Amino acid sequence: MLKWLVCVAFLITNSLAGKKIPDTFLLGASSAAFQIEGGWNEDGKGPSLWDTYLHDKNASENGDIACDSYHKWREDIANVKSLGLDFYRFSIAWSRILPSGTLNNINQEGIDYYLNLIKALKAENIEPVVTIYHWDMPQHVHELGGFLNPQFVDYFGDYARLVFELYAPYVKYWLTINEPFMICLGGYGLGFMAPGLNLIGDGVYQCGYVLLKAHAKAYRIYDEEFREKYNGQVGLVINFDWAEPLTNSSQDLEAQRRYQEFALGWWANPVYLGNWPQVMIDRIAYRSKLEGFSRSRLPEFTQEEIDYINGTSDFFGLNTYNVGQVKYGPEPTIGLPAYTSDIGIVVVNDPDYYHPRGIRDSVNHIHKKYRPRGILITENGKMTGDILDDQGRISLIRDYMDNLLDAVLEDRVNVFGYSVWSLMDNFEWGSYEKRFGIIRTDFDSPNRTRTWKQSAKWYQNVTATRTLDV
Ligand code: NOJ
Repeated sequence: MLKWLVCVAFLITNSLAGKKIPDTFLLGASSAAFQIEGGWNEDGKGPSLWDTYLHDKNASENGDIACDSYHKWREDIANVKSLGLDFYRFSIAWSRILPSGTLNNINQEGIDYYLNLIKALKAENIEPVVTIYHWDMPQHVHELGGFLNPQFVDYFGDYARLVFELYAPYVKYWLTINEPFMICLGGYGLGFMAPGLNLIGDGVYQCGYVLLKAHAKAYRIYDEEFREKYNGQVGLVINFDWAEPLTNSSQDLEAQRRYQEFALGWWANPVYLGNWPQVMIDRIAYRSKLEGFSRSRLPEFTQEEIDYINGTSDFFGLNTYNVGQVKYGPEPTIGLPAYTSDIGIVVVNDPDYYHPRGIRDSVNHIHKKYRPRGILITENGKMTGDILDDQGRISLIRDYMDNLLDAVLEDRVNVFGYSVWSLMDNFEWGSYEKRFGIIRTDFDSPNRTRTWKQSAKWYQNVTATRTLDV
């Protein structure tokens, strides 16, 4: 009886005290070079695809100054420190260290910028988590064909090797490429991101084919030339939002399966299992045939390529934001070959749908299907307007972390860290209005003043108590 009472008392106090975050679980914040640095042509930096894309469009907003982190990085690190974070995820601007993307011109000032940043983080006991490619391709490499050019694999390999040579002594966690899905679909398929190409039928898949080989090349270089000495970990960042089937009908369940394979499996299958998901191979071959093509629009991997890509991940980087719903779609009529007709599903658009449990389902699914050695949530967060009292952001982050901790503590999924997107409001690929930061950036002040929002104070409390107040 007494034992029982003690047990109940323990459970009550524990739940009143909130959910304990395991000591080994890392908490961090993320950013990306183009979105925060500015200094777009300073100290020898070459233009990136995004610089040129926005300048050519005469876009009213661009990344020329952004958060001015090129000059204010010390303040950023001080914020990371005060937040009590275990790690800071940032990216290297390829054209800051290689102005034209290739090895014939190496920019020492660019090298020093990241060296200072990394060393300062280490000095504060903050783990640098480094993204090698977060969308800002050197303009010259883009002009050579970007992700549509098979040679890209070697350009990227050269750049990655240089970055490893420079920073591997200090960096434990590397991320090769951020969000292949967005790069290929947004940039080469639907054209709403740089380089703005509308090659929805084939370019989108060609991009994926080259990109995965580039990722694998960087991984293999680390594995063969640096691992023994530095023992770091290299992964790919895949973006995936969980989706529930609209109903339990077998058709909607099939829609959910297709969605998973086309969004997540497109990248995770080759990296963890070898080759594209079978449903992609079958559907795209079938649609291509209907459209009168003599072969599938999805490039075929050779066995050698399959073996080269398979196994190129030490941990799974997951960017995840929302949870949605999907339903079966009618077979689209033949006409425009398109990614959506290849899947044959409909994504349900319901802005009120909120289902944070999806993150738990997501990591469970990844854990069971791909068996990664560990999962790191490399981005999660919420966009708001320009407000300091951002209760909506706090509730979302709290709910997602809560579900994630259930996956860790109850389901025993090896998620070893969580990173909020983003450390501060930044340039959301075309807009300063869409704010994701837990710290406000004043884009009207020449000094780009930073001010903590409520969410930053809340997150600071989480890191200090290592408890989630659920
Ligand atoms: C994904 C991208 O990695 C990041 O650059 C972007 O700002 C956020 N998601 C928010 O959209």
